[in-house]
Amino acid sequence: MQVPPFSLSQQINDLGTDLEEAVLQVLRSGQYIGGAQLNAFEDAFATSVATSHAVGCNSGTDALILALRALEIGPGDEVITCSFSFFATAEAISAVGATPVFVDVDPATYLIDLDRIEAAITPATKALMPVHLFGRPVDMTRLMAIAEAHRLNVVEDCAQATGARWNGQPVGSFGDVGCFSFFPTKNLGAAGDGGAATTSDAGLAQTMRELAVHGMPKRYLHTALGYNSRLDAIQAAVLNVKLPHLADWVRRRSAIAARYREQLAGLQGLSLPSDEPGHSWNQFVVRINSDRDAFKQILQDSGISTIIYYPIPIHSQPAYAHLRQQTGPLPITEQLCQQVLSLPIFPELTDQQQQTVIETLRKLLRAKSPTQLPRGGSQERMVA
Ligand SMILES: Cc1ncc(COP(=O)(O)O)c(C=O)c1O
Repeated sequence: MQVPPFSLSQQINDLGTDLEEAVLQVLRSGQYIGGAQLNAFEDAFATSVATSHAVGCNSGTDALILALRALEIGPGDEVITCSFSFFATAEAISAVGATPVFVDVDPATYLIDLDRIEAAITPATKALMPVHLFGRPVDMTRLMAIAEAHRLNVVEDCAQATGARWNGQPVGSFGDVGCFSFFPTKNLGAAGDGGAATTSDAGLAQTMRELAVHGMPKRYLHTALGYNSRLDAIQAAVLNVKLPHLADWVRRRSAIAARYREQLAGLQGLSLPSDEPGHSWNQFVVRINSDRDAFKQILQDSGISTIIYYPIPIHSQPAYAHLRQQTGPLPITEQLCQQVLSLPIFPELTDQQQQTVIETLRKLLRAKSPTQLPRGGSQERMVA
């Protein structure tokens, strides 16, 4: 049996008629930019995140940029974040002319190490950008306390965490702005790119709305240099069909994660992610303690596709060579990039597919260490 890391085919089959009708309705309406579908989605999404406003935009990256711009963060300013994330986290900070300052992550959660933030604060620090990576919520009680003590803005990178909660409260409702991605692999995915910025500050919402449409508060009056970053009506229509299913999908992801944690416990050379209430499990990321890449290949040869999020830390990317000197060592981030491996997880993963993943891992990890496993052999040969 082949097990993909992610697949939308069953979901599209299940929602097929509703999706077709919604998209056709937009096509027939002629209202492709803005309009009823977008308004309905923004209202419903803001409600689901427990904020007063949601501003639809072109991507999660743009949501981050709009948030930073609306908070007037720019050249000369520093934003504290982590290097163990998707590149867009830091890229958005650089895109507004500010400088990302990277703090190492906590090895237990893979999230920004809250104990290291204060040491990174300088007079130039304007904001904290926590990343709810893989769907796991950052401890927003502690992070907001640090932000308040130092009068810093908070932009939450919720790109991977739609449906996640900290202490029962949705992520994206703690900071000044929450930034979500609707990239198709996310917990709530569009049929293309899409994003939203959530806030309960009416002024920030209005500024982000204007910036997303060329800095235009009223037709052909431009008060700022903005962007063309809208959530298309067709994407909004797709998201309106999908949003009511989000809670069920997150529950299913949690059940899959719980089964992995139970059935893979105690395997040699494998570290499992700990559980966390409110985790929305966009990814189930294990650590392979030796030769992760060889192990990934062996899994692939056995029909199990996995993904490495992320093989290179942001601060080691060529695009950030200019920041290398001022970035201290980030040993946990660097080690994680060598060890992490994301197992298949998506709501439509069948029990049988998951069982295949579990059994394959169990067989393989009976071997003493992945480095001792032959490359590309049969499953029998892989058992020590
Ligand atoms: C942590 C994180 N931040 C930001 C983004 C950017 O979102 P988008 O791809 O919608 O621009 C992503 C997308 O993968 C992400 O994972």
